[in-house]
Amino acid sequence: MILTDLDPTLVSEQLLAWYDKAGRSLPWRGTSDPYRIWLSEIMLQQTGVAAVIPYYERFLTRFPDTAALASASVEEVVELWAGLGYYSRARNLHKAAVALMEEHGGAFPATVAGLQALPGVGRSTAGAVAAIAFGVRAPILDGNVRRVLARLFALREDPRSSASEKKLWIWAETLTPAVRPGDYAQAIMDLGATLCTPRTPGCERCPLEALCRARGLGLEREIPVKQMKNKVPTVLQVALLIGRDGRLLVRRRPLEGMLGGLWEFPSGVVPEGRTPVQTASALGRDFGAGELVPAGGVVHAYSHFRLDLHLFRAEVKETTRIAEEGESRWLTPAELSDWPLHGAHKKALPLL
Ligand code: ADE
Repeated sequence: MILTDLDPTLVSEQLLAWYDKAGRSLPWRGTSDPYRIWLSEIMLQQTGVAAVIPYYERFLTRFPDTAALASASVEEVVELWAGLGYYSRARNLHKAAVALMEEHGGAFPATVAGLQALPGVGRSTAGAVAAIAFGVRAPILDGNVRRVLARLFALREDPRSSASEKKLWIWAETLTPAVRPGDYAQAIMDLGATLCTPRTPGCERCPLEALCRARGLGLEREIPVKQMKNKVPTVLQVALLIGRDGRLLVRRRPLEGMLGGLWEFPSGVVPEGRTPVQTASALGRDFGAGELVPAGGVVHAYSHFRLDLHLFRAEVKETTRIAEEGESRWLTPAELSDWPLHGAHKKALPLL
């Protein structure tokens, strides 16, 4: 009904031929180990290839298989994830490894439904793992693929609407070939990442140029239809760089919740009607800190808000006893540069 004049076999053949010539050489390719493929797909869910590669390699060195990951603590997994963002991915990764060991004897299910039952694995990730690791003819629909399909079929509606979502999945399903479905999945993702890019698509070099309806209509830059971006709110916070004897105090955030399990300087939200200085002073009193000295600020963007962080330095006496075990530490600047601080507080380090 929707595919009308587009021949799915032609699309997949063109894409596979292009992939054989121009596909990227990436560390998770050339393996059919579902653990490695799953790990790469989770890391790539909200992060680009270049940022993922060093994390992927470090992860595999520390956790070479499901059993190693499952027997680690979730804190260690979160700490190794520090800097990649969207930390619920790390917690779910660990949960899934434990579930695989306890409920599947350490083996990955080879079906989309079985994979999708794992924490952190949605329909597209399940499709990618099933196709790449197990050769299942399973569709995928990540951000890059959405853009490719929206253009190929000249989708002139908001691609995030539920009607569009349905159409996109039908198109994805129809185009996925029975032969080499895993290569096809990676080919269409590569096309979206390298040629069918958001702003200036490289249509002249695209293997689907002759088939692409948006290109035929001269609409490749108009499609996908842009969403009106909602302005994200700004949250004002203070953080204290509390020094004692050349070391600074950091504490670990509770595991549950945003940035759970990562470390940070003592910090707090500035309430309505109060200033950063007032908030920092109140926080400083809790730690027995003396005079506070403004130490600059950093701005950090999260998906749903912008953090405007004001920093203050304070010194406490050597004799001050603040919990040094468990979830708090006094660290030197050198130690801090390698410590799994969350991104906003890592940005504060040059201000020390
Ligand atoms: N994005 C998500 N999965 C990917 C993969 N396997 N190759 C390239 N980009 C991806």
